[in-house]
Amino acid sequence: MITYLVTGGAGFIGSNYIHYMFREHKDIRIVNLDALTYAGNLDNLSDIGQGDSYRFVKGDICDRELVESIFRDEDIRYVIHFAAESHVDRSIADPDTFVRTNVLGTMNLLHCAYDAWVQPDGTFSEGCRFIHVSTDEVYGSLTGEGTYFYEDTPYDPHSPYSASKAGSDLLVKSFIDTYGFPANITNCSNNYGPYQFPEKLIPLMIQNALSGKALPVYGDGLNVRDWLYVEDHARGIDMVCQRGRLGEKYNIGGHNERQNIKIVETIIDLLREMLPEEDPRRAGVTRDLITYVEDRKGHDRRYAIAPDKIKSELGWEPLTNFEDGIRKTIRWYLDNEKWLEGVISGEYLRFYEQNYSGREKL
Ligand code: NAD
Ligand code: TYD
Repeated sequence: MITYLVTGGAGFIGSNYIHYMFREHKDIRIVNLDALTYAGNLDNLSDIGQGDSYRFVKGDICDRELVESIFRDEDIRYVIHFAAESHVDRSIADPDTFVRTNVLGTMNLLHCAYDAWVQPDGTFSEGCRFIHVSTDEVYGSLTGEGTYFYEDTPYDPHSPYSASKAGSDLLVKSFIDTYGFPANITNCSNNYGPYQFPEKLIPLMIQNALSGKALPVYGDGLNVRDWLYVEDHARGIDMVCQRGRLGEKYNIGGHNERQNIKIVETIIDLLREMLPEEDPRRAGVTRDLITYVEDRKGHDRRYAIAPDKIKSELGWEPLTNFEDGIRKTIRWYLDNEKWLEGVISGEYLRFYEQNYSGREKL
């Protein structure tokens, strides 16, 4: 039985990863360390019971004693590090929390994994590995058509979120370069799929359209993101963990660039198609809901990943195309309205008010 320490496993990608891993592997145990911030939700894992193969620990990745005790009590072979503050708009309003969790939290995990795995001769226990899950936003914003982010693209983060992820990436790199620490860094494009908190573009637009609320498109709506179905990301992380070259960095993206406005229009069209005729919400889902609002500060224009390295070295390719993935995602939100109601709590409404009420309509 191989034991994984997954951090942030109650969040969007972490919970999809845990589901994926239990589907794909028989002999594994997962210890999920999550602080259950506004973005963490145990309902995402309600079908996975505590037992021999799964243990949930509520706690902060910055807590040295707690993380040390997990390494003492468990025979951790792999760390899959997802825990982070992850929303750009929140980082603009409150950058400090991002530095604390993303930079100091990663440092603490590195420190504890180093102590647990290092041998008297300075090498590390056979087979151990730390996967740091990061983002393509560390590379900044692309301008020219046909340009892409590669693993050696220089870092040029603009938001406090991407700067804090860049800082954490560089700390992991420093452990690899200085101590020969067994780690990989993965930099992924925008994920979408089930269990995504409705502060991010796709679930926010689904949720607002279903409630007949305005669909707030930042700026001219022509910013481009490169969308990847979350299960494809989970598979990519698993492949890097099993077969990636130690110390290497891998970009994960699906060559699936879309302008934001096209995403919003697709969601409206599909909701109209998928909602039953007799559903009273259907008539209200129209393009009239689209509302252009004041742009995000420092808004990156375009992200696009070249996933050539992970494809040639590990044979990874996305298996879900956008047309299927977005349908599956909308279907999931329509079938899981209780989940959606559960996460739109007081805290969500406070954030929504703070982020959107002050924005001028364009
Ligand atoms: P998320 O916000 O949905 O989940 C983050 C999880 O981390 C939550 O469960 C939260 O409770 C937990 N957490 C936050 N602070 C913590 C702390 N101090 N201690 C312990 N747990 C804490 O995020 P996500 O979208 O699932 O992203 C996961 C990782 O993937 C992040 O590192 C993010 O930077 C990266 N990433 C995300 C995307 C994307 O499109 N969502 C793309 C590329 C990379
Ligand atoms: P988001 O889902 O926040 O991901 P990220 O900023 O990390 O890429 O946003 C995706 C794109 O959608 C980004 O260009 C900002 C834009 N956006 C809107 O136009 N309106 C919104 O309400 C949100 C949340 C995002």
